[in-house]
Amino acid sequence: MEKRIKKAIFPAAGLGTRFLPATKASPKEMLPIVDKPMIQYAIEEASGCGIEEFIIITGKYKRAIEDHFDSAFELEENLKKAGKKGLLEEISRLNHLHFAYIRQKSALGLGHAIYCAKPFVKDEPFAVLLSDDIIDPDDSLLQDMINLYQKYNAPILALQKVPMSEVHKYGVIDGSKVGDGVYKIGSLVEKPRMADAPSDLAIIGRYILTPGIFEILEGIGPGKGGEIQLTDALSGLLKKRPIYGYLFTGTRYDAGDKVGYLKATVDLALKNPQVSEPFKKYLIAVSSRLKN
Ligand code: UTP
Repeated sequence: MEKRIKKAIFPAAGLGTRFLPATKASPKEMLPIVDKPMIQYAIEEASGCGIEEFIIITGKYKRAIEDHFDSAFELEENLKKAGKKGLLEEISRLNHLHFAYIRQKSALGLGHAIYCAKPFVKDEPFAVLLSDDIIDPDDSLLQDMINLYQKYNAPILALQKVPMSEVHKYGVIDGSKVGDGVYKIGSLVEKPRMADAPSDLAIIGRYILTPGIFEILEGIGPGKGGEIQLTDALSGLLKKRPIYGYLFTGTRYDAGDKVGYLKATVDLALKNPQVSEPFKKYLIAVSSRLKN
């Protein structure tokens, strides 16, 4: 099978209920972190790893995502005339990328969202990036996973250790360590209760998958929460072939959650040269106000 990962799927058709009312008629994936929508961080991460085709799964009220990645002729002309070279470069930087949009008609779950991409993926391995899991742009998680895929020729799931009190929010694995940060997965369970969790190793929003997953997704019914769960399909795939996990020890923000979103905003603002200095001063003032 093809070893290069050229395609990536970005499921973005969820309802974003944790962000209501902001997400009532606008996509969660378009919420900005400093000056870029969440989904752009994921697109840039994938583009930096040599991904060539970007498949976005959209749904109701998600049109702004398509507009965002379209070229903006009028705006570009205006910026050109106004001599705003920096901004022009910034907004046209992604114009050369190839996007495809697939509509998930109803939010039936992450597994179903990925299944919708089957006709575009065909017979190739592919990456999946959940854009509300923001990975620090200085980390190399996706590239490390692609390298592992090339070594093991098997699906690779990103894992992170989470407090046991939070395992109920994730798919959790049981596995044996086979290398530096690499686990051979023995079983997976979606959103277990703390007492039933096989470990504290949670699956986070980066995956390298093989097309065999589509056949399994086709055959599974609703799981936890009445949704077609990717974790259930991965359990099915595990019966047919090995799957590996890669333990991420860098920084991830769960920006689909309000507090995670605020943390991402603060940390990424502190890294942004345009705002870091005045923002840092403000944070220092806030922190001394909170201490008093
Ligand atoms: P989440 O579990 O974060 O769900 O989905 P959500 O709907 O976005 O947000 P909440 O939990 O209601 O607040 C994880 C990822 O899977 C996508 C989401 O867009 C998000 O990127 N997803 C989820 C779909 O594309 N389709 C679905 O049916 C469900």
